[in-house]
Amino acid sequence: MKTDFLTLSDFDEAWITGLLDRAIEMKNAPGSSGCPLMGKSIGLIFEKASTRTRVSFEAAIYQLGAHSVYMNPNEIQLGRGETVADTAKVLSSYLDCIIIRTFAHERVEEFAANSSVPVINGLTDRHHPCQTLADLMTMLEQKGRLEGLKVAYIGDGNNVANSLIEGASLMKMDLSIACPEGYEPDPLILEKAMGSARGEIVVLRDPREAAGRADVIYTDVWVSMGQEQKAGDKKSRFRNYQINEVLLACAKPDAIVMHCLPAHRGEEITSSVMDGPRSAIFGQAANRLHTGKALLERLLTA
Ligand code: CP
Ligand code: NVA
Repeated sequence: MKTDFLTLSDFDEAWITGLLDRAIEMKNAPGSSGCPLMGKSIGLIFEKASTRTRVSFEAAIYQLGAHSVYMNPNEIQLGRGETVADTAKVLSSYLDCIIIRTFAHERVEEFAANSSVPVINGLTDRHHPCQTLADLMTMLEQKGRLEGLKVAYIGDGNNVANSLIEGASLMKMDLSIACPEGYEPDPLILEKAMGSARGEIVVLRDPREAAGRADVIYTDVWVSMGQEQKAGDKKSRFRNYQINEVLLACAKPDAIVMHCLPAHRGEEITSSVMDGPRSAIFGQAANRLHTGKALLERLLTA
């Protein structure tokens, strides 16, 4: 039975804890994992731009002994109308795993349903679970625990926020989300997380209230890929949701700042916070490699 990695809510606390521990082990002992994926071929189909996800997975694949096959959708028949189902059936007869970044989450689900090999969600409009693995690893490294940690997510209720909600809920963390009205995370994801009675998940309007006493302040771009036509409107609605020195002062004195990147400096976060002493942002980006390796090893060798 293959295991796909499409959303975090398909997994439990023990599975995620094991994966994070393995990622930290791989980071601390580079080269110790050997080549567990020797002889395997792993495909990457990216229908949106990517720096971190694509490159960290390609490096992870190489470091684990496998071979990566990057496919630009415009250069394969998918871009000329071959169906998702037909593409999945054919590619999974050649490859051992397929990583996809696309728009509608249903497209990844359809691909996975027709693929005979594990499919990894490299970001959809609704979820970004690979990002959350690196986020949780970074919080664990920086704070020494996840349970009971207070995280404030300030900004758009987007794919990164949705996956963070699922991760926080599974790991019993408290998550306060501050966003303008109309920009809340996915209501079904919120409802499920709030109903699970693990950590406390709340949606607020006031970013200072969310940041108050937080251990971690997290943000993401106000305008996600594919939403560029809404940019002007959104930027004015989000003006008060910037992570800057004033907002950071509301959090605990040892609070760290996180951002999945890419950032729009001067919009959702100031350069002084991003490059300041409390920023965990570039370490967080680096952890995409280690969580990617641990995920591939888990899905392809377990
Ligand atoms: N954080 C993240 O997924 O970055 P990329 O869009 O560069 O892959
Ligand atoms: N919310 C952002 C995340 C990019 C990694 C987007 O979807 O564009």
